[in-house]
Amino acid sequence: MEKRTIPRHIGIIMDGNGRWAEMRGLPRFEGHKRGVQRVKEITEAASGIGVEVLSLYAFSIENWMRPEDEVSVIMGLLEESLKGEFLNFIKEGIRFRVIGNRDKLPGNIKSIIEGVEQATDKNNRLVLQCALSYGGRDEIIRAIRKAINKGLTPEDITEERISGFLDTAGMPDPDLIVRTSGEQRLSNFLLWQSAYSEFYFTNTLWPDFTKEELLEAIHEYQMRDRRFGKVSNSSGSLAGSGGSGFGVRSAF
Ligand code: FPP
Repeated sequence: MEKRTIPRHIGIIMDGNGRWAEMRGLPRFEGHKRGVQRVKEITEAASGIGVEVLSLYAFSIENWMRPEDEVSVIMGLLEESLKGEFLNFIKEGIRFRVIGNRDKLPGNIKSIIEGVEQATDKNNRLVLQCALSYGGRDEIIRAIRKAINKGLTPEDITEERISGFLDTAGMPDPDLIVRTSGEQRLSNFLLWQSAYSEFYFTNTLWPDFTKEELLEAIHEYQMRDRRFGKVSNSSGSLAGSGGSGFGVRSAF
């Protein structure tokens, strides 16, 4: 795989855990358990191929409206995974961070997250960015509030400033966003940051999503012609520019 065109930042909307379980006559939590195993496999794969940031949509702000027992299973799995993976993050150079609205998280989860974030803060092999209690609109609202609290005037507002107030401050925008399970929507994930992301949709349910399919998604991404609203470098015009790959990649 050509290193130059590996996406720096991949976002994944991990969808289909419930359906995976229901199709097998199993309770939904079995799908979430299996989903956690995929998180581990895909994180290792992304790190191995040189992705810099992997953002995983683990729990949306709307997911708080799910039945209480399902929410507590997901929170329990998160707690268990963080405790279980903590030493592995250190060993593998993974920096863990959470984006999302922490006010809504239970206290024990919040403190585990803070502990893991602090302990892995200096790691630089892969940033594993977990979107938890996350909503893109909620993130933008919180960013605007921060800007107002800092006393910014309307003239101070620029794209860079807004980006700097988002939970993802300091991270590159996602180059590629993958959604599993056949749904083709963003569902409030990285709304601001995905302005120029490429999208890859697959019918595969998250518990069946393998390293091979991640590589397939990256391969398809590498075929795309990212123009960022400009014309393709290689052709000089849009006509006949199809398949030129990363004509303006150097414009990052
Ligand atoms: C979507 O499937 C999945 C979720 C809402 C939860 C995903 C959470 C995990 C896999 C745990 C994350 C853990 C770590 C360590 C990041 P769904 O329930 O919406 O499936 P459905 O659409 O088939 O019902």
